[in-house]
Amino acid sequence: MRKPFMVANWKMHGTHFDTMQWIQALSYQMEPSDYDRVDVGVAPPFTSLRTAQIVIGADDLPIHLVAQNLHWADKGAYTGEVSAAMLSKLSVSYVIVGHSERRQMFGEDDRTVNRKVRAALAADLLPIVAIGEQLEERDAGQAEEVINRQLSGALARIPAEQVGRIVIAYEPVWAIGTGRTAEPAEAQKMIRHIRSRIRSRHPEAAEEVRILYGGSMNPGNVAALMAKPDIDGGLIGGASLDPHSLAGCVKYWT
Ligand code: PGA
Repeated sequence: MRKPFMVANWKMHGTHFDTMQWIQALSYQMEPSDYDRVDVGVAPPFTSLRTAQIVIGADDLPIHLVAQNLHWADKGAYTGEVSAAMLSKLSVSYVIVGHSERRQMFGEDDRTVNRKVRAALAADLLPIVAIGEQLEERDAGQAEEVINRQLSGALARIPAEQVGRIVIAYEPVWAIGTGRTAEPAEAQKMIRHIRSRIRSRHPEAAEEVRILYGGSMNPGNVAALMAKPDIDGGLIGGASLDPHSLAGCVKYWT
């Protein structure tokens, strides 16, 4: 059984002080037993990671700390970059790789994504690999082709026993930050396709890999999305900035 995983992607929002308040506000709305049903992650900006680590540690909260990006090298002359080892030392356990905003605005391609996935795994950080087609690609009937390319690019040369540890986030680009969610059936169809692609090469890992949906997830649509058999959680952007609506998504069954 795959445990659902809900991740708040705070993108470039919030000072370290806001991060502290948002984590506390979320935790006040969670019962200890909720964490048995769902894994919860928060992905604040780099400048907030240390504070988040302290807040989570002080109250021993079962919340996973997630980074939004990493560099593939261990260390070196890469001004402005942050390595997997640095993140691990801050109790970061997951890292988002290949978010569409990074692909579109910061030139990340399938090769970069693959280097980052391998660097993360080597440092025992679990990658949350974001893949998704653009609207023009979907309209041109190329959505599956794009997904296939991004998926095999991300998973290239990953040892079979590591594949099951990776989390995939299917985020159709046209649904991110637009208020236009993919229909649950549409999201399920693509996520099932992703799982079957993984199954063709890694039959066992395919049952373990958690595949999240991302793109305008909110408390109003989360239950219908989570009712689909292959959707294992969500990567939540806009709705996660309000602790109330974040809690509404995380506790999707209430
Ligand atoms: P959104 O963002 O929920 O605001 O659409 C999701 C994401 O980009 O991860």
